[in-house]
Amino acid sequence: MENKIVIITGAALGLGYAAAEELASKKAKLALVDYNEKALAEAEEKLKEQFSGVEILKISADVSKEDQVKAYVDKTVEKYGRIDAFYNNAGIEGKQALMADYDMNVFKTVIDINLMGVYYGMRYVLPVMKKQGYGRIVNVASVGGIRGVMNQSPYVASKHAVSGMTKNAALEYGQFGILTNAIAPGAILTPMVAGSFKQVNPNDPKAAETEYASRNPTRALGDPKDVAKVVSFFLSEDNGYVNGQVVAIDGGESNMYGTS
Ligand SMILES: NC(=O)c1ccc[n+]([C@@H]2O[C@H](COP(=O)([O-])OP(=O)(O)OC[C@H]3O[C@@H](n4cnc5c(N)ncnc54)[C@H](O)[C@@H]3O)[C@@H](O)[C@H]2O)c1
Repeated sequence: MENKIVIITGAALGLGYAAAEELASKKAKLALVDYNEKALAEAEEKLKEQFSGVEILKISADVSKEDQVKAYVDKTVEKYGRIDAFYNNAGIEGKQALMADYDMNVFKTVIDINLMGVYYGMRYVLPVMKKQGYGRIVNVASVGGIRGVMNQSPYVASKHAVSGMTKNAALEYGQFGILTNAIAPGAILTPMVAGSFKQVNPNDPKAAETEYASRNPTRALGDPKDVAKVVSFFLSEDNGYVNGQVVAIDGGESNMYGTS
């Protein structure tokens, strides 16, 4: 990844930040996008402390706003001249509820960020990569992009859409040297998942976490660093022929039927 230009959305925390560390360690040049300006500034500071000389373009943007997506793509091209790799990662879980009881505003926000945000990203990055005749994209789906997940209808709808758009981008843009894949993480311990355990058991989120981990074939939750290593491979030239796949990173849990 040395000197490769990489855009990461949702880069301030969780999976996005872990990928920023992994790619900075490999000397990639980064454009970091997030709408949490404070967390993004802290992320930049931490990366600069750990990796001296790392090049970072920090961009505050909401991925659900098309004009802001166009702007983060334009700013990246203006600074670095090209985009080699795109980690289309920003997303939210929403509030858990049964389908018919789901808050309509939250439903729409989840779709706007997780589905439209991923689409806008590809809408503006793909033409740049097409002109270059080269590019690597990793969209972030979820196990909720290949399976149902109780009480998370808009999340599951949006993540299935991410899996679908990944397949279409792969079909349409493979001819231009662009390989597009998605990852489907299970429970990886990030601030989002910590928030999810709080929703499941507000009085004792740690108990919800332990209970969840005990059902995984590995008896553990995932580490954001493990996800970052897989993502780094798919964003690199080392991936020469995998295209349009949705790769589960979940300790094998999505293969399970019945109790463990
Ligand atoms: N952590 C997991 O176990 C897990 C599992 C499956 C899928 N995912 C997916 O991975 C991605 C990252 O999740 P995470 O666990 O790191 O979450 P997180 O909440 O820990 O971090 C997400 C980051 O994205 C940013 N973000 C959210 N909405 C944004 C928007 N509209 N515009 C710009 N930035 C925005 C947040 O500010 C935050 O910095 C999401 O798409 C999520 O659905 C995570």
